[in-house]
Amino acid sequence: MIRIAAVGDLHAGSDTADVLRDQLGEVSQKADVLLIAGDLTKSGEPEEAEALARELRDLSVQVVAVLGNHDHHADRPAEIAGLLREAGVVVLEGDAFRIDTPAGSLGVAGVKGFGGGFPGASGAEFGEPEMKAFIRHTKERSEALESALATLVTDVRIALLHYAPVRETLLGEPPEIFPFLGSYLLAEAVDRSGADLVIHGHAHRGTEHGVTPGGVNVRNVAQTVIRQAYAIYGFDVIGRTEPATAGRGSREGRGSRDVASAAPVSER
Ligand SMILES: [Fe+2]
Ligand SMILES: [Fe+2]
Repeated sequence: MIRIAAVGDLHAGSDTADVLRDQLGEVSQKADVLLIAGDLTKSGEPEEAEALARELRDLSVQVVAVLGNHDHHADRPAEIAGLLREAGVVVLEGDAFRIDTPAGSLGVAGVKGFGGGFPGASGAEFGEPEMKAFIRHTKERSEALESALATLVTDVRIALLHYAPVRETLLGEPPEIFPFLGSYLLAEAVDRSGADLVIHGHAHRGTEHGVTPGGVNVRNVAQTVIRQAYAIYGFDVIGRTEPATAGRGSREGRGSRDVASAAPVSER
């Protein structure tokens, strides 16, 4: 079984080192990869990223992350990503990473994503330049996610986001702020390229379980939602055939991947 540990919204700072050390110490024995769904820091200051990097550096499991809005707050996202990469963390933004485990291959496509809302209550690329820029950013990041997912030819494919792709995993948050918590465009991108699971954070008061209109499971792993150090999701890859090569990877062709089901078979 491919085992995925996932958590979002660690919001690290100089005061969180001991907590994170306790929380993450045993993840290497429990999972093949640790996914972090953004908001790694409190306010995007490099010293906060350094504090987190010190805790992640010694983990023997591969860590894959996307940044969140908090990691952009000090306008130094490249420095934040650089500090994490120095500690061995793969930081994704519109690209993908492959991990080969004894139980099969795992691909992770990552983007931060952005807001805009959900059908019936969403913004449009119309009016003031600021509004057009807002929605355009969401469209661009959704297209980047779709492209990154399409490059993956692995037994299991994960979309790693910060913002939510569906309303369901926001339930518990005030509906008035849903447009600032995610966008349906991210779910459309996932459904077009295909994935086995979407991981996101950002909605601290949301709900863990959701599903895209196309049937891809969504999990909000904000630490305040999962109420534990990280959630574990497992995928059994049964009767696996050799994955198709990227060269013949039409969208239909990837249907030959023999993953047990779209649902993670074990959780927690
Ligand atoms: Fe957060
Ligand atoms: Fe956030």
